[in-house]
Amino acid sequence: MTGPIFRLGVLVSGSGSNLQSMIEKLHSGPAAIEVAVVISDRPDAYGLERARAAGISAAVFLPGDYRDRTGHDQAIADELEARGVDLVVLAGYMRVVTPALLKRFPQRVINLHPALLPAFPGASGIEDALAYGVRITGVTVHFVDEGTDTGPIILQEAVDIAYNDTVASLAKRIHDVEHRLLPQAIELIAAGRVGLSPDNPRKVTIRRHSPSASE
Ligand code: GRF
Repeated sequence: MTGPIFRLGVLVSGSGSNLQSMIEKLHSGPAAIEVAVVISDRPDAYGLERARAAGISAAVFLPGDYRDRTGHDQAIADELEARGVDLVVLAGYMRVVTPALLKRFPQRVINLHPALLPAFPGASGIEDALAYGVRITGVTVHFVDEGTDTGPIILQEAVDIAYNDTVASLAKRIHDVEHRLLPQAIELIAAGRVGLSPDNPRKVTIRRHSPSASE
């Protein structure tokens, strides 16, 4: 890939295993993509350690330091903009983002969800799929809109549920898929190959080649 570096701003609240996969597969890989900044709402998020270990700037924005959600998201958006971020990646970020951030990065915020949306949205997608008894669940990467896990779907991959699966055994297989699918989606976006269908703005289209390549 030639041209400028495509810069990611990654928001995490916890372990950050998906941040790690972005660091290994994108930031330290051959693609012209880097993690410009990692932001957390929780000072004890292990993802912050992973960022620092990779020499990536890490910042904490405590919700309690702001008047409301809008103020919190405005401060985060200011930081992302100051870092020249092209794409905001919610990777285990446990807060709903408000228009204060979304309007500053239109069609430039993506989220990773551990189920096949629109099934099992919310904070416990793995547990909910297992408890429901579905035989197939999976992973979704989608654009973020103002709802909870409702934005246009970019990539999905199915994961079979075994009759003897536990939350831990299923979570392990889901995370393995996540660690592959999220970097793949980011590479497609960075290459300019992901858009929304002109006749149905809910629907993502993926071009066969990047816009610069001959069709
Ligand atoms: C992932 O399962 C993701 O789907 C969900 O939160 C989890 C984050 O895991 N949104 P990690 O912090 O990347 O390890």
